[in-house]
Amino acid sequence: ARLVVLVSGSGTNLQALLDACDDPSYGARVVAVGADRDDIEGLARADRAGIPTFVKQVGQFTTREHWDRALADTVAGFEPDLVVLAGFMKLVGAEFLDRFGGRVVNTHPALSPAFPGMRGPADALAYGVKVTGCTLFVVDAGVDTGPIVAQQAVPVEDDDTVETLHERIKVAERRMLVDAVGRMARDGFTINDRKVRFGR
Ligand code: GRF
Repeated sequence: ARLVVLVSGSGTNLQALLDACDDPSYGARVVAVGADRDDIEGLARADRAGIPTFVKQVGQFTTREHWDRALADTVAGFEPDLVVLAGFMKLVGAEFLDRFGGRVVNTHPALSPAFPGMRGPADALAYGVKVTGCTLFVVDAGVDTGPIVAQQAVPVEDDDTVETLHERIKVAERRMLVDAVGRMARDGFTINDRKVRFGR
């Protein structure tokens, strides 16, 4: 399966996918990496792996819709089977979802439906939960609200900071992402009234 991965930061989830794809039995390869900003480690990781990259900055476009369309056009050019949002910090829009709807997955560092949005680990810590985690879901028009593909639970320690908690989440998240994307790539998946099932 052909994967296009979108990132906005350090790209450790991307790196986990790149490493997994080195195994021919994994059944997927990253054909391009895109970002919404320059000079991030995620793009450097793609460069080191010899994978084409592209950047689409919202500020370069007159409207958000134009950005969304340009992003969709560029992604479409790589003919992805699956688009993986791995720490991508922008919401893709209606046109993007029309083009790739049902084939866009996003990883979120909280146990959906709890703590959606940009501050999942911080919100979990502030709330005082004892268990949080990460979620892989199929992107829909909402914010972190799509059908859930996989989840992993992660304990919150009493002395956690946002950083220590998020790092612990990311260890589980990388494994969750690699396992689930591999299954989707090899076995396909279907969505029946929000329930995601592997297998064609
Ligand atoms: C991940 O935890 C992702 O869920 C969140 O930001 C983090 C990105 O980490 N949105 P990285 O860029 O993959 O290292």
